[in-house]
Amino acid sequence: MSALMSRWKSLPLKWLALLGAVTGAALFSVWLSHRSLAAELIRSEPSALLKNPALVAFALRQAAPVYGEHCANCHGVMPEGKPKAGVPSLVDSSWLYSNDLVSLEQIVLYGIRSGHPRSHNLADMPALGRLGVINDEQIEDIVQYVLNISGQRADAARAEQGRQLFYGKGNCYDCHGGDARGVSEYGTPSLVANVWIYGGDHDSLFSSIANGRHGLCPSRAQTLTPLQVRALAVSLHQGVSHSE
Ligand code: HEC
Ligand code: HEC
Repeated sequence: MSALMSRWKSLPLKWLALLGAVTGAALFSVWLSHRSLAAELIRSEPSALLKNPALVAFALRQAAPVYGEHCANCHGVMPEGKPKAGVPSLVDSSWLYSNDLVSLEQIVLYGIRSGHPRSHNLADMPALGRLGVINDEQIEDIVQYVLNISGQRADAARAEQGRQLFYGKGNCYDCHGGDARGVSEYGTPSLVANVWIYGGDHDSLFSSIANGRHGLCPSRAQTLTPLQVRALAVSLHQGVSHSE
């Protein structure tokens, strides 16, 4: 220990000064490159940005801690999302709206049904049971139809009744699409992909149809910087799970 101390003391002052200068210059150049990457990330055209591996890598590094602080409590750190809480996975290939960068940025900024005037808010899942549009027997038929079209076990006779209600009294096709694959303008989920926000089992489906759903993703327009917004959008677009 004392030998080390005396070695330090014996080091000429000019060597220490040089060491300090080199460290300072290195830190300064790291800071400069961070600044220029940050500026380039914000300025770049989305399609050009995604073709630039250095920028994408930079974005992913920026996004990880922001996701941890602002998104993980709802969307989870695991790829599955949290179906019990009605929060979709952000790393599957199924998107309510679209996974192009601009659309993702809009959600990160303004949210979904958040109350922000620019958030997505075109359609809600109506409480068709509670509103008395269809009764429990009819809901059961429709549930069997949805089980059937999503590739799950279903009662064939009831599913056929359900199909007629889907395109008739239930008006489901109007929002979920004639092919039931969801409509991205309205943010309606696909009912055939067997990927669910609220669960695709019998009881979850029954509850979605009887009681309605109103998923809310909050607006971050006040809390995130433009760099953070863009970095998050890039990481979602790249399908990064943040599960490390
Ligand atoms: C309070 C909980 C909550 C927080 C915090 C939250 N979200 Fe969400 N998010 C939701 C819910 C609920 C939905 C589903 C909305 C719906 O049903 O339409 C959603 C939907 C989304 C979607 C659309 C997913 C799809 O499948 O198309 C994206 C993208 C998204 N959130 C990104 C984020 C990001 C990025 C953050 C962090 C900045 C974040 N969310 C923070 C609850 C949250
Ligand atoms: C006015 C438009 C509208 C109509 C009509 C409508 N839906 Fe929906 N539905 C939505 C929206 C929007 C959502 C997403 C709600 C959310 O994200 O919170 C949804 C969600 C759902 C869900 C939950 C899916 C999941 O991933 O968990 C199911 C199941 C569903 N609808 C089935 C139906 C059926 C069956 C009908 C007809 C009986 C129907 N919907 C009629 C708009 C509609």
